[in-house]
Amino acid sequence: MIKWCVIGAGGIADRRTIPAILSDKNNKLVAIMEKSETLCKTLGEKYGVPAYTDEETMLKECDCDAVYIGTPVFCHYRQAMLALKYGKHVFIEKPVTLDSKQGRELVDAFKKAGKLIFVGYMMKYHNLHVKARQLIKEDGIGTPNSMRLQFTCWYPDIAGAWRQKKSLGGGGAIMDLGVHCIELAEYILDDQIVDVNGMYSTKTFSYEVEDGAVIIFKTKKGTLGHIDVNFNIPDVASESKLEIYGSKGYLISKGSLAQEEVGEMSYLYAPQGDYDAAQSRVTQEPQVFKGENGNLYLKQIVNFCEHVNNNDIDYSYADEAVHVQEIVDKIYQGEK
Ligand SMILES: NC(=O)c1ccc[n+]([C@@H]2O[C@H](COP(=O)([O-])OP(=O)(O)OC[C@H]3O[C@@H](n4cnc5c(N)ncnc54)[C@H](O)[C@@H]3O)[C@@H](O)[C@H]2O)c1
Repeated sequence: MIKWCVIGAGGIADRRTIPAILSDKNNKLVAIMEKSETLCKTLGEKYGVPAYTDEETMLKECDCDAVYIGTPVFCHYRQAMLALKYGKHVFIEKPVTLDSKQGRELVDAFKKAGKLIFVGYMMKYHNLHVKARQLIKEDGIGTPNSMRLQFTCWYPDIAGAWRQKKSLGGGGAIMDLGVHCIELAEYILDDQIVDVNGMYSTKTFSYEVEDGAVIIFKTKKGTLGHIDVNFNIPDVASESKLEIYGSKGYLISKGSLAQEEVGEMSYLYAPQGDYDAAQSRVTQEPQVFKGENGNLYLKQIVNFCEHVNNNDIDYSYADEAVHVQEIVDKIYQGEK
C-alpha cells in the first residue's frame, strides 16, 4: 500500500491523477494541498481527506510514502526538493522543471538521497506506442528513417494563465506539448535525439510564449524527425498524428497523442527489392491496431508503485525527463 499526499490538487490532479490513485486498491490518498483556498476546501470535502494550503505543514503532519506534484512548472523544483527533505518518493508532472539545469540538480538530489522520482510522461504507456516500439525493435518496419509527430491544443489568451508566461511555464507550445513528443519519439525509437533545431512564433495570440513551433531532429541511430506543436489550431482541426516510415514499411497512428488511450495505428510491412523506374503506385492494405481505452494515468501510477514496492529505485525515467529539458533548452537557445 502506497500512501499519497498531493501538492496542487486542482488541475490535472483532480481531473486525472487523484481519480487514478483512488481507483487502485493498492493506493491510499492521505491528504491534499492546494494553494487556492476555495479549491482546497472543495477538494478536501470531495475526496474526504485533510486539506492544506501550505505544503510543508501537510508534509510535517501527514504520514505518506509518496507525493504527487501537479502544480505549475515554476513550482516543481522547490516543491519536489521540499518533499525530498521529508524523505518522500515523488511523482512530478511534466515537464520536470523550468530548464535542464534545475532538472539535473533535482534528479541528482533524489539520487543522493536514494528516493524515487518519476515524471508524468504518460504517453509511453499507451498500448499503440508500446506496440510501435515493439514492432520497431522486431525489425517490423526495417530501419526507422523518418518520423513526424503532431500535437496541438487550442489555447487562447487567458488572463493570469501561468502557461502563457515564460517565467512561470518555461515556454509555450514546446514546453507544454513538444516535451511529450520528444519523450515519446525517444521511447518509441528506443534512441536519443542528438541534434535538434526549432523555429517558433507567437502568431495567433498575444501572450509572450510561442503558440506554434516546428522542431527537426536527428537521433543517435540516424532517424530524422519532425515535430509540430501548436496552441493555435482548433482541436477538431488537429490530426494528432504520429508517423514513422522505415526501410520496410510504416507505422501511422491518428489520435494517440492524447490524455486517453484512444486512436488507431496502421501498420504496413512492405519490403521492396528492385528499383521501380516507372514508380507505379502500388497499394497494400495496412494492419490496423486500436487504442485499448485503458487509463494512462493509472498505468503510470501503478508502474511507480511497483518500483517503490520492489525497492527498485530506477532513475532512467527521471534522467530521460532531464534529457528532454536539455533538448528543449537547445531549441530555445538556438532561435534568436
Ligand atoms: N501529463 C498530462 O497529461 C498533463 C496534462 C495537463 C497538465 N500537466 C502538467 O501538470 C502541471 C499542472 O498543470 P495543470 O494544467 O493542472 O495546471 P492548473 O493551473 O490547471 O492546475 C494547477 C493547480 O495547482 C494549484 N497551484 C498553483 N500554485 C500552487 C502552489 N504554489 N502550491 C500548490 N498548488 C498550487 C492551482 O491552484 C491549481 O489548482 C503542469 O506541470 C502541466 O504541464 C500534465
